This record gives sequence, structure tokens and C-alpha cells, in this order.
Amino acid sequence: MSRKIAVTSALPYANGPIHIGHLVEYLQTDIWVRFQKLCGNECLYFCADDTHGTPIMISAHANGITPEELIEKVHAEHQTDFDGFGIEFDNYYSTHSPENQYFSELIFNRLNEAGSIVKRNIEQTYCEKCNMFLPDRYVLGTCPRCKAEDQYGDSCDKCGGTYQPTELIEPLCSTCSTPPARRKSDHYFFKLNDYEKPVKDLIAAGYTQESAANKLDEWFKSGLKDWDITRDGPYFGFKIPGEENKFFYVWLDAPIGYMASMKNYCDANGLDFDTLWNGDEWELYHFIGKDIMYFHALFFPAMLIGAGFKPANKLFVHGFLTVDGQKMSKSKGTFVKASTYLKHLNPEALRYYYASKLTASLQDIDLSIEDFVNKINSDVVGKLANLASRSGPMLTKKLDSKLGQLDEQGKELLGKLVAAKNEIIKDFESLNYSSAVRTITALADQANRYVELNEPWKTIKTDAEKTRTTLTAVINAVHILTIYLKPIMPKFAEKTEKFLGVENLQFSDVENVLENCQINKFERLFDRIEKEKVNAMIEESKEGQTPAVEPAGNFKPECTIDDFAKIDLRVAKIISAEAVEGADKLLHLQLDVGGAEKSVFAGIAKAYKPEELNGKIVICLANLKPRKMKFGVSEAMILCAGGEDKELFILSADDGAKPGQKVS
Ligand code: MSP
Ligand code: ZN
Repeated sequence: MSRKIAVTSALPYANGPIHIGHLVEYLQTDIWVRFQKLCGNECLYFCADDTHGTPIMISAHANGITPEELIEKVHAEHQTDFDGFGIEFDNYYSTHSPENQYFSELIFNRLNEAGSIVKRNIEQTYCEKCNMFLPDRYVLGTCPRCKAEDQYGDSCDKCGGTYQPTELIEPLCSTCSTPPARRKSDHYFFKLNDYEKPVKDLIAAGYTQESAANKLDEWFKSGLKDWDITRDGPYFGFKIPGEENKFFYVWLDAPIGYMASMKNYCDANGLDFDTLWNGDEWELYHFIGKDIMYFHALFFPAMLIGAGFKPANKLFVHGFLTVDGQKMSKSKGTFVKASTYLKHLNPEALRYYYASKLTASLQDIDLSIEDFVNKINSDVVGKLANLASRSGPMLTKKLDSKLGQLDEQGKELLGKLVAAKNEIIKDFESLNYSSAVRTITALADQANRYVELNEPWKTIKTDAEKTRTTLTAVINAVHILTIYLKPIMPKFAEKTEKFLGVENLQFSDVENVLENCQINKFERLFDRIEKEKVNAMIEESKEGQTPAVEPAGNFKPECTIDDFAKIDLRVAKIISAEAVEGADKLLHLQLDVGGAEKSVFAGIAKAYKPEELNGKIVICLANLKPRKMKFGVSEAMILCAGGEDKELFILSADDGAKPGQKVS
């Protein structure tokens, strides 16, 4: 009997691009959803952008746009990235939606009625200059535990301690560096501890993997604390019912976004939300990373239970991506955006590679660049695609594209391939994709051995019908392996289907034998990965490689006329220029700014030789606060136009301009 299954992935924040770390999750989920669909189950995949909270607000402000404009822009970008990787949501929605507001208020009100919400007057950090309460991450200071400097208001990078922003030593507002004041404010708290028993029961009944349950046990032992679900305005989010300037903390409405996405889909497709979320007919699964377990294993189920909704059947928690054994790094170029990857490499290569590494455990998964290139070239190209390219072209060119019948030997090979079906299904179902991939490649090895044993490239010269029999078995092996691979590499499968002349292959087609039928023209299924392309992708991902031309309108925050009035731009004449030892980008310039002389270190050595600069007129920022640099003090800044390095231009000599003259 077919199952009905609803699935979610965590909602990506709407203030940044999708990167290859995120993709671990969206690919893990997409493969599972595709697998369920290919088994004939009804399966719906829901997701959305997580749009609320301070970072989004700040990021919008920094870009000179409204949060609404930002989240709309990012929504489109996220969708393009997901499409590029073949991640197929049934609904990709937004937490900034009427459905989400409705459910957030409903759940809050129900919890309130159940007595699970308390209001308390608490002291908060407040920036008098920015006129706002400062969220944890907007206060910087010294860790009260280990005294490490420059730590955020919630936890310390050095010692891992957690604390309140008010506990930081010498705190500063991270936006304007003013020491924050403290102000009292009423906050609503969710009494998580009221739900200790039902949540514990849920976990005991297998809500998470066992290793996740162990981690949760630690949390239970240290006691469940009340959860502050309030943020004072200004805040981009939903207003708390009955309040003027208080909002739901983003993590309250974020998981409710799963419900909103489902509700939005149900309404558009004539389905009943209650049946899908709350009924017994439908199963519900959440896929998440291990960093957000607290929210998904404690807060969310507790909220749902308290508000009379059904928690999911299971939470699938995965580990984090490392690249060559280390955390993704912007400076090393391993923090690769989905869109950057797509410019250089085939998305199905990453789908296959992640699948070959993924298990049901919470362990981190490592993308080893070398292993990635080798595995794709040897497994996908050398074993899987090779089977088709060893049989297809010969059949079409020499044997009228017609399959014959299997002989005993062919039947034996295919028997082995078919026999692996249940094990492969079990592996997909239980998230042991790496095991499924191992089985599939081992089967491909057997099929390749069969080809080598039967030597069709020889027999084709002497015995056409024997060759047809051999190739018929190979084509049938391709057919079966394609079905097994289809959740992982849907495009590869689509191409193969076209070539085999079959449509919409499902797991139930594994036992179908292709005999005495036509196949179509063979098209290359997969190209080798060249190491150079991977290197180019890494190069492009290195921090500081910003495009020469910023996207239109992507300016810094507005500069008022008063800000601008502070700037004193003057004409200056270069009276001497010399190279700086140890700094191949810098030149040391002496400027005549109408009587006053200023010493400047300018990063223009790639564009100009010192001797070219004598007597040149430049425009300079004359009132720059002297800046101490490694090689000396810079007392002004010169203005240039152009891109980088060689294409940098300063003004040429011009008799009309006098040093010291004001520029307007
Ligand atoms: N917005 C929250 C989730 C709200 S769900 C109601 C969030 N967003 S996120 O963009 O930071 O992460 C989205 C998902 O991607 C999370 O499940 C997270 O664990 C996962 N990953 C983000 N970076 C990752 C890696 N480097 N490696 C593996 N998964 C990672 O958290
Ligand atoms: Zn401030």
C-alpha cells in the first residue's frame, strides 16, 4: 500500500546565498523525497525562506533597501540555486506570509490560554545612539568566563561558554561602538519545562536518531529553561498580539513556517491542511542540521503539543560539511556558493558525491576535493556511464538499434542486479545512501566484468547475433542501475530513459526486461571532471574576489549631505614618489597640498612606476585622520578611478589646477 508523506528541510535564512554546506541538507532531503516518489508513495516536499530577525533587518539597511525587498530578492536567488541542483520542492514559501502570521498567533494564543506563557520584566542591553534594544549578536565585549575579548553577547568562541549580553565585560554596540545602556522591558516566555514529560516521551519513542537523543539527554539533565520568545522593536517580524512594539523572536515563527508552507500548498491544491498535518493518514518528517536541534527537538514539539498540533513522526538530523577535513573557509575558497559551483561543475556530481558519503549518523561529512574528482571520474564516468557507452553506440551503429533476447548468462547477471533491490530500498529509506551507492557501484562492476568477458568489440566482427545478446544484457543492466540511481541523479536518469526509449522509470520497473525493442541514439551521459575546473571554482570563491562592477544599486548606506560636508577634497601635486620596500602594492608619495605637505601611502604600485608620478596632479582627501600603517603614517588619501592593479588612473598634469584648490 502506498504511503502519504510530508517532508520538510530547514528554512534557509533570507540574508545570504545557498552554499555547498546547505546543500548537504537539501540534497539529502531531495534524494529521499525523490526516492519515496519513485516507490509510488505520495510525497510532498515543503520549504520556505526564513525571513525574520535582526540580521535580515541590518542587511537590508546596509543595502539601502527594505527588508521586504531584500527577502523578495533572496527568495528568487534561492529558488534559482535550488533549481540548478535539481532540488524539487512542492512548495517553496516564505515565513513572511499571512499563513505564517496566522499560525504563529494561533499557537501563541493557545499556549497562552494553556498557561504556558509568562510575562516578565527583564533588563536588556539598549543602545541610546542606535535607539534600539540590542540582540545578543549586536553586543560585543569581553567574555565573563575566560576574559577573551571581542565576543558576542550570547556565547564565547574561545571557551564555548554561554551567558546573557548583560554579563559581558565592557560591552559595546556592534553597530556604533557605544557602550550600551540597560533598560527594562516586558518579555513573554514560553514555559518549556511544562512539556518535559511529553517531549521526553516523544524522544524515547524514537523521534530522533539515537546519537541525537543522547545529546538531548544532556539538555534534559541540565534542566529546560523558559524561552524568551519576545524581541523589542524595531524588529522585522510579526507583532505579538495585543502589543505595540513587541515582536515574536524569529525562532518562534520559523518552524511554524513549515506549517505555513504546507497550508499555502493545501489551499492552492484543494487539500485539507488538518488532514495532512494532524491526521494519521499522513506521515511527517523534518530534515535538519545538528546545529538547530534544540529548536526542533525541544521547542517546536513542545509548542505544537501545547497548542494541540501533532509533532512530526521523526526528525532526521545530519552533520556538518567539512572541505578537506576543515570548516568551510572564505579565505581558502572552500566556502563555495551554489551559484559559483554551478558556473563550473555539473550539479549531479555533487549530488552523487554527497550521496556516496551520507549516512543516518550525525557525523560531519567531508568533501575531499581529490576524492571528489576521482570518485566521479572512476564511478560515475568509468563505471556507470561507461556501461551505456560500451553498448549504446555499437547497437545503434552496427545492430540497427535493436535489442535481442537474454541468454542464460545474461539472465544470471540481471538476476543479481534485481536481487539487490530490497537492500537498496532499505538503504534509501533509512538514509544510508552511502551504502546504496556502494551496492550500486559493485553491481556496475559486475556488469562491466560481464562486458569484458564477452568481448562484444571482438564478436561484432564475427557474430552479430551473439553480440546483440551480450549488449541486450548490458542495456538491461543500465536500465536497472538507472532506476537505482534515479533519486540521486535525476538528469542522468532522464538522459538514459531517452536513450532506452522508456519513460518515468520507477522502482517497480526493476523487474521489467527489455527485449526485442528499439533503443534510441546514444548521447554522452556524463563528462569527466577536470581538476582545473574545481580549482577555478575554488579560486572564484576566495574572499576578496568581489566582481569589479557591483550589481546595480548595491551601494553602502546613504551618506547625508552633512556626512559629505566633513570631507575636504583638495587638488594636490605629487612632489616625490618612491617604492616601499616589502610592500609591492604600495608607493610612498609626498603631496603638495597648497603649502601643506602630506605623506601618503597609496596602493597604486601595480599601476604606476614612481618616476611616472612626479609632478602629476591628483585629488586627495586632505583631512583624513592620520592612519598608522605598517610602513609609516598616511596623512591623506588620493582618489583614483578604474578597476584594480594596472587599470588604475589618477589625473594627469594640468596647468589649470593649483595645489590646495578646493574640489567641489
Ligand atoms: N533559518 C534557520 C533554520 C530555521 S528552520 C525552522 C537556519 N538557517 S541556515 O540557513 O543557517 O541553515 C539551514 C540548514 O542548513 C540548517 O539545517 C543547517 O544545519 C544546514 N546547514 C548550514 N550550513 C551547513 C553546513 N556547513 N553543513 C551542513 N549543513 C549546514 O539554521
Ligand atoms: Zn549602537
